Amino acid sequence: MSGTVRLDRLLANLGYGSRSEVQQLVRLGVVMLDGRTADDASIGVSITADLPARLSVDGQPLDPLPGIALMLHKPVGATCSHKEVGRLVYDLLPPRWRRREPALSTVGRLDKETSGLLLLTDDGALLHRIISPKKHVTKHYVATLARPLRGDEAARFAAGTLMLEGETKALAPAVMEILSSISARVIVTEGRYHQVRRMFAAVGNHVEALHRDRIGGLGLPADLGPGEYRQMSPADVAAIFS
Ligand code: URA
Repeated sequence: MSGTVRLDRLLANLGYGSRSEVQQLVRLGVVMLDGRTADDASIGVSITADLPARLSVDGQPLDPLPGIALMLHKPVGATCSHKEVGRLVYDLLPPRWRRREPALSTVGRLDKETSGLLLLTDDGALLHRIISPKKHVTKHYVATLARPLRGDEAARFAAGTLMLEGETKALAPAVMEILSSISARVIVTEGRYHQVRRMFAAVGNHVEALHRDRIGGLGLPADLGPGEYRQMSPADVAAIFS
């Protein structure tokens, strides 16, 4: 977002309310811009990176401007969906962020029982750069298995010929490293439905627990606990593609 935007439109797009609700906030005198109470909801606000420091609502700095990218430590049990019943990953963010326009979306999905690094953004170009098969961004998982590894799994995953049940196109080669007799690290570049669970099913095993700890060169920070999120810095975004 750049240039100048009407104050009421800016606040409405950030989820503070409908146009008329944010006009009411301005009338109530709770919107401060550049050290003064804003008294006209139709004024043009110049969009600068420091706007959250210049503009406050109810004494709180303005929410992050559009172009936001987040990393979230997805806990087991939360669903990557805007509308399914039950606990959604979006419930882990401030409620106002559900009403942002452009909307925040997950970058790909983790299934309900999978934990770990999940990215969210309202930047469609960034989302497509991360999920585009052409970019070959790797996704790193740790799988805990129901049965001991047989020993041939890494070769079968690397072959580029493994077929998942119900599919007609073989998987691209994937890397598997043995961590213990019942756990392995798997590195994939595709994002097929329940891919890692189905890869182990295809070699006669069953995934009991699955955790993603890295996307490209971006690791899940050790201090980001399950359910916690953080805004990504430009360096974090660059790390994905490094
Ligand atoms: N593979 C899976 O099986 N589940 C995920 O959530 C991600 C990759």
